[in-house]
Amino acid sequence: MPLNRREVLGSLALTGAAALLPELALAQTAPLARPVPSSGEALPIVGLGTWITFNVGDDPVARDDRTEIMKAFFDAGGRLIDSSPMYGSAQPVIGYGLEKLGHPKPLFSADKVWTSEGDEGPEQIEASHAHWGVDRFDLLQVHNLVAWEKHLDTLFAMKEAGKLRYVGITTSHGRRHEEVEKIMNTHDLDFVQLTYNMADRDAEDRLLPLAREKGIAVIANRPFRRKELIYRFEGEKLPAWADEIGAKSWAQFLLKFIVSHPAITCAIPATTRVDHVRENLSVARAPLPEAELRRRMVAYIKSA
Ligand SMILES: NC(=O)c1ccc[n+]([C@@H]2O[C@H](COP(=O)([O-])OP(=O)(O)OC[C@H]3O[C@@H](n4cnc5c(N)ncnc54)[C@H](OP(=O)(O)O)[C@@H]3O)[C@@H](O)[C@H]2O)c1
Repeated sequence: MPLNRREVLGSLALTGAAALLPELALAQTAPLARPVPSSGEALPIVGLGTWITFNVGDDPVARDDRTEIMKAFFDAGGRLIDSSPMYGSAQPVIGYGLEKLGHPKPLFSADKVWTSEGDEGPEQIEASHAHWGVDRFDLLQVHNLVAWEKHLDTLFAMKEAGKLRYVGITTSHGRRHEEVEKIMNTHDLDFVQLTYNMADRDAEDRLLPLAREKGIAVIANRPFRRKELIYRFEGEKLPAWADEIGAKSWAQFLLKFIVSHPAITCAIPATTRVDHVRENLSVARAPLPEAELRRRMVAYIKSA
């Protein structure tokens, strides 16, 4: 049986976090949200990635198009936007859009530090603040564990000083999971970001259970394996029972699987299309599949 809105919010209550949820999570029209374990703050279960899709340079038409993506995202109740200094012009393009949209209050800014010289972290973070046009980020993550020891020192010191709300690390493509596990066990992380989708499920074995045990929020990147999964299935029929979980397209089917894992806080699909933002955000509506239906989804994918 799929989980409905009441049951999903009920599971939040079990964490003791429901009392802390802002109105956003409880409003009938808002997307489903999960609490960040370290604070109880509710985050909608679908966010927005910006790798490649927001790297459009100074092209004014493309910049306005990306602003429309962000507008549609906020209009649908989205909050978390993920970027990195590694993503070319994505940061200034986000900053351009935020300014045009009047710096929407719901924004949850998730950026990264990515430089092999640990000492260069603070300077890079200052440049990222300027690109986004924000005084402080909600979340900073050490991108792909690059120089992670030094950068984590910087990020924890910033958090301590009130210059940052949450600290995290990222990996992708299933890389360096043993090291990620070690850091999760030895550092007081708020977030970990990793690849989790219907074809990349290694994280289910150790990292997702560990995240639940340690109270670490999880951001799922590469939900479509950069569109490979959409291409793989678009010629196939959706199963009739996809309707039971409100999945009307393969994109929704794939996303519903990711965000229904109880350890996942949110997935961050990237897109260049307003209709796709809306389609992706509508996944954050009940119902979500529970364990038995999730097993059926995996079996169906394997046989497709
Ligand atoms: N190590 C790290 O920290 C790391 C590594 C990888 C990724 N990330 C983060 O994760 C984000 C997502 O991963 P990703 O960018 O690799 O790829 P992705 O989100 O798996 O796939 C993006 C592709 O999916 C398509 N798409 C999106 N919504 C769709 C829909 N409803 N229907 C059909 N197609 C759809 C987009 O095409 P259209 O433009 O046509 O919609 C785009 O080409 C990144 O942008 C980045 O923020 C972080």
